[in-house]
Amino acid sequence: MKEQNVAVQLQGRDFLTLADYQPEEIKYLLDLAKEIKEKKKRGEVYQPLKGKVLGLIFEKSSTRTRVSFESGIYQLGGTGLFLSSNDIQLGRGETISDTAKVLSSYLDGIMIRTFKQSDVEELAENASIPVISGLTDSYHPCQVLADLQTIQEVKGTLAGLKIAYIGDGNNMAHSLMLGAAKMGMQFSTASPEGYLTDEEIVKKAKEITDGANIAITTDPIEAVKDADVIYTDVWASMGQESEQQEREKLFAAYQVNESLVQHAKADYTFMHCLPAHRGEEVTASIIDGKHSVVFQEAENRLHAQKALMVALMG
Ligand code: CP
Ligand code: NVA
Repeated sequence: MKEQNVAVQLQGRDFLTLADYQPEEIKYLLDLAKEIKEKKKRGEVYQPLKGKVLGLIFEKSSTRTRVSFESGIYQLGGTGLFLSSNDIQLGRGETISDTAKVLSSYLDGIMIRTFKQSDVEELAENASIPVISGLTDSYHPCQVLADLQTIQEVKGTLAGLKIAYIGDGNNMAHSLMLGAAKMGMQFSTASPEGYLTDEEIVKKAKEITDGANIAITTDPIEAVKDADVIYTDVWASMGQESEQQEREKLFAAYQVNESLVQHAKADYTFMHCLPAHRGEEVTASIIDGKHSVVFQEAENRLHAQKALMVALMG
């Protein structure tokens, strides 16, 4: 009964940040993702989105997000339309609100990857169909849904675990922090001074946890201490390519390597959203080593997003 209420609550919703989702809603999505993954492994055909069309607007590159959404909607019985911003009028100055209104009359959902979070919010406000964020400069909520699914699979639980994020206080760090807070996990992060997570988002995460469980530091050893999960991401995100060399110097002490992981729990799990730069934020021995679950994590993008599309667009 309660689960049915959650299902109804999710219909037609946008997915712009995990801050907007209740823990029981995230849990519902994770349970559905597990079920959908099992169905696929059994070879069962599951097509609740027959006839539905998802538009995929990309203003930045993508391998995982594009392919998992396109394959996912197809497997669910629907169709995906890849809309590069170079090809649609949005890239030539048509307003976001006009684009939202027009696309709402053709499509059943929009996934967008772009720069500004405020653009995604404007699109969602003006669209009458669900809008899903496929990454902005501020957040990457779909990635974290798949990450939570992966941690649940590997560790059997989420609440009470410690997740340490090392590196740039970027979109990944922000979404991970919110996801961890929502699921009762302990979250610690270490970044160089000037590259720490956004204070407003930290405040939001602390409100979720009544001030507990969120630790921000510049010391990677302190952050990683007794961690169950170690997570990192590239030092220069999409749009920051010109800062690559400068960042390589500033972030050198934040590499996840054999010496840093000594401070985590012996059975720690290594995660990375990918794409990765071996030899920069993580050494090959760690990302390709026995603690790494990066490909399971990447696979789960497909299952987690299928669950999201079914819940929002079904
Ligand atoms: N992790 C992730 O979002 O990868 P892509 O940039 O390839 O979509
Ligand atoms: N922080 C990275 C994540 C890529 C999936 C970026 O924004 O480029």
